[in-house]
Amino acid sequence: MEEPTTGTTAMMVPWLLLLCITAAATSGALQAHAQLDSNAAGFISIDCGLPGQTSYVDNTTKLSYTTDAGFIDTDAGVNHNISAEYITPSMAKSWHSVRSFPSGRRNCYNLSSLVSGSKYLIRGKFLYANYDGLNRLPIFDLYIGVNLWTTVKISEADAAVFTEAIMLVPDDFLEVCLINTGGGTPFISGLDLRALKKMLYPLANETQALVLLHRFNFGPTDSHTIIRYPDDPHDRIWFPFVDVENWVEITAEKEVNIDDEFFEPPQEVMQTAITPRDVSENIEFTLDIQSFPRDHSLGYVHTVYFCELQEYPSSNALRQFYIYRNGVLTNLHFYKPPYLASGFVNSVKPFQASQYKISLDATAKSTLPPIINAIELFSVISTTTVGTNSQDVFAIRAVKKMYQVQKNWTGDPCLPKALSWAGLTCSYNGSRPPTIIIVNMSFYDLHGGISPDFTALKNLQSMDLSNNNLTGSIPDALSQLESLKNLDLSNNKLNGPIPSGLLKKVQDGSLDLKYDNNPDICTNGTSCQPEGGSKVAIYIVVPVVVIVVLLLVVMLYFCLQRKRKQGSIKNSVKLKNDGDGTSQESSLGLESHRFTYRELETITNNFQRVLGRGGFGRVFHGSLEDGTQVAVKLRSHSSNQGVRQFLAEAQVLSRIHHKNLVSMIGYCKDGEHMALVYEYMPQGTLQEHIAGKDNIRRALPWRRRLRVALESAQGLEYLHEGCNPPLIHMDVKTANILLNERLEAKIADFGLSKAFNCHDDTHVSTNTLAGTRGYVDPEYHRTCQASTKNDVYSFGVVLLELVTGKPAILPDTEAISIINWARQRLARGDIEGVVDTRMQGDHDINAVWKATEIALKCTEQVPLQRPSMAEVVMQIQECLDLEEDCTGRDDEFYTGSSSVGMDPNMGYNASTNRCTDLRQNNATLEIEYNHRRGPQMDTSPMATR
Ligand SMILES: *[C@@H]1O[C@H](CO)[C@@H](O)[C@H](O)[C@H]1NC(C)=O
Ligand SMILES: *[C@@H]1O[C@H](CO)[C@@H](O)[C@H](O)[C@H]1NC(C)=O
Ligand SMILES: *[C@@H]1O[C@H](CO)[C@@H](O)[C@H](O)[C@H]1NC(C)=O
Ligand SMILES: *[C@@H]1O[C@H](CO)[C@@H](O)[C@H](O)[C@H]1NC(C)=O
Ligand SMILES: *[C@@H]1O[C@H](CO)[C@@H](O)[C@H](O)[C@H]1NC(C)=O
Repeated sequence: MEEPTTGTTAMMVPWLLLLCITAAATSGALQAHAQLDSNAAGFISIDCGLPGQTSYVDNTTKLSYTTDAGFIDTDAGVNHNISAEYITPSMAKSWHSVRSFPSGRRNCYNLSSLVSGSKYLIRGKFLYANYDGLNRLPIFDLYIGVNLWTTVKISEADAAVFTEAIMLVPDDFLEVCLINTGGGTPFISGLDLRALKKMLYPLANETQALVLLHRFNFGPTDSHTIIRYPDDPHDRIWFPFVDVENWVEITAEKEVNIDDEFFEPPQEVMQTAITPRDVSENIEFTLDIQSFPRDHSLGYVHTVYFCELQEYPSSNALRQFYIYRNGVLTNLHFYKPPYLASGFVNSVKPFQASQYKISLDATAKSTLPPIINAIELFSVISTTTVGTNSQDVFAIRAVKKMYQVQKNWTGDPCLPKALSWAGLTCSYNGSRPPTIIIVNMSFYDLHGGISPDFTALKNLQSMDLSNNNLTGSIPDALSQLESLKNLDLSNNKLNGPIPSGLLKKVQDGSLDLKYDNNPDICTNGTSCQPEGGSKVAIYIVVPVVVIVVLLLVVMLYFCLQRKRKQGSIKNSVKLKNDGDGTSQESSLGLESHRFTYRELETITNNFQRVLGRGGFGRVFHGSLEDGTQVAVKLRSHSSNQGVRQFLAEAQVLSRIHHKNLVSMIGYCKDGEHMALVYEYMPQGTLQEHIAGKDNIRRALPWRRRLRVALESAQGLEYLHEGCNPPLIHMDVKTANILLNERLEAKIADFGLSKAFNCHDDTHVSTNTLAGTRGYVDPEYHRTCQASTKNDVYSFGVVLLELVTGKPAILPDTEAISIINWARQRLARGDIEGVVDTRMQGDHDINAVWKATEIALKCTEQVPLQRPSMAEVVMQIQECLDLEEDCTGRDDEFYTGSSSVGMDPNMGYNASTNRCTDLRQNNATLEIEYNHRRGPQMDTSPMATR
């Protein structure tokens, strides 16, 4: 067992090493990259405590560092230089200064202009170096937004502490907060932010982030060799793990093929590895997890990188080994590193541990000792605490900025409760984001007008702005705050009339308004003096009030009328066909955003990228101002049918919301132009995945197919049972099932959907047949009567496609339907004959049987014999349980590749008895992934060739 020689913990880099980081800069090793752009996209590099506004280019990384001035309140913290005795000529400039926070419990850096929903690496850097001359080593907490990141414990004055987290950032900003927990003054030397592709580090998701404990590169025998940007385009810092006594270095001269979208280790890291000095030995080492101050109850995850760097000298040479974590086998079978290609083994879910020990033991057959290239170990933190409602955050921040509020208003306004901003009262309602309900800014020394941003605090119940020096008039927009019951504006210098909206609320008793001691406010019309305009104002105000009231009455009347009318036709969502659809649209009551055609042009960059085509027209890719990617379905002008379907779909989408239904972001009805704007589903249609189009890199694994089936079934179940009246989709097919970046399925295209009322008559008659050949229920075809069982039938076809990998209608000699094709084979008991060969035997045959059975039940001729979608959901869930029970893992990727094999000693060769074998083995299974070149077809080790 070897401790890393670089120190007690990886992220505490001793002083010597720090010097080396900078020494590397002058060694010329990085000169080849000197021409690289110093402003890598998506990078923010902050040198905290650096005075002035200057930015500079770091000698080592060629990255541009900026001062922290733009990222923190001007009055927060104090700049310091570290003690001169710690400074050496080769030390990177970014370590020279720190910002410390002697006052305020919480102080936050605010990184803005991020892309919401994107993944980032965030790194804090701390070097105490006796900057305050007190020689007192502090300990304090670090938060990302409102979630605890880590505790920073400075245990040596000359140790550089790095903390790093990989997380999905929900908003377009991120706050990093230092919290004084009584263990000394918090300080920080630097803060880095690096944008990552979303696919990277799949275990960092909406609910959890990864906090780095160790990241080691094996191979370099020189502890100075540190790899980061530009060698690592994501600027991860790879420290060397050196143990010359026991290990020898292997280096590849040739390039290693890094085609791994989950971790993208740098070439330089994968080109070196270690192997035991004594070839009969194995590799074993321990990494410290105990000295990290926090109890990581969510557990740990790791990624271990392997690459075969040596060409085998003779054909019977073999390198294969078992991987044990804390004595437990991590994979079912042995591991064989891929030749000159990056391979890894990583956790698919967090594991609990009190220590972390890795052993790589050669198999009996192996003639070569194990090797290892790199390792990363993370602890998992929860990011489920949600910050204050973001609209409130933006509003109150704008207020803070406008009035230059000097009350250490920093970090999240409401959370944690103990640190909520002075003068604000929030409402905390369970898992929903807190909202601001009371603003008390009495005696806050406010100058200038009443901020228009107050009106964005939608849940505001009470606001006290009394005893300030506010000037200008009272904004009428305040009357839009529906919950506002108390408004105190007294003792200010406001002028002008009380706006009509507020007056009305005062008159009907819903608002208690105080405005005394504002000398220039005109109340009853009589006392309004200034600039002669006031009389006119009253003459305007009174009629306006009258008109507004009249209008309200008229609108109310019409609303009631319409409600009544709607009541009678409500259950049949049918739209009157009146040509251009304008009147329908007005009755849609769409909540979604309405776009103009001009806006759509901007969003789609002049309709540049076509995502798909259909009878209605084309679908374009677009991105909103905030970076959200969208799909824009633009109706072609040709068909009248199109208008109707468009409106039907818009109406359906605006009233249904489910995680397995594609959601609508907005719509456009701008003259001739009609469009629907949806969430963008980057992985395209299920049809493309089943057909294996060029852009699809590999066939969906069986478990993912089952999940897709489950998710689509849940979407349909919701339409049938969660909607009132139930909705029939009428066009369920693989082309209408879309996949997001995590390959989660959502049902799309509601253009043909029908409301279905079981109280009036059982079926909805349709004049024109809806649906797509191969998916249409023959019963519907016969009777022209729609029922939810039509969707069940079509879903059965989809499920069969998932099992077989074949289209709904086989393009064979006589265009046979997939149902008949499968029934014929199953009649002969040939279940393997229907299974998609691309699944490479990666399925539990029982689960496949069950899925096929469900599909056949769904496609029964007689609708009554078909299950409901709720039953289908249950059954597929059972399938999935069967599958996961059996394999005990829930990896999303094929583990099969030419470099992975089954251990003959484990007595397992037929896929049918895999279940029992696996149950006997208590190994915690992990994903194993090896780079494969080209298409994935038939490379399974199980395929007999
Ligand atoms: C960075 O390099 C430049 C030129 O090579 C040198 O003048 C400067 O002092 C260096 N800065 C640091 C902090 O090493
Ligand atoms: C706010 O700042 C004052 C000093 O200006 C300090 O006394 C007080 O503790 C701070 N409050 C919080 C919540 O940090
Ligand atoms: C994040 O990953 C964990 C598994 O590690 C899982 O339990 C959780 O549901 C995931 N969260 C989301 C939102 O996908
Ligand atoms: C208003 O401002 C004046 C001077 O600018 C100051 O003396 C007075 O105290 C302020 N009033 C309030 C209520 O803050
Ligand atoms: C209008 O003036 C009368 C006295 O002239 C006063 O009693 C009343 O409160 C005033 N109304 C409002 C709305 O200020």
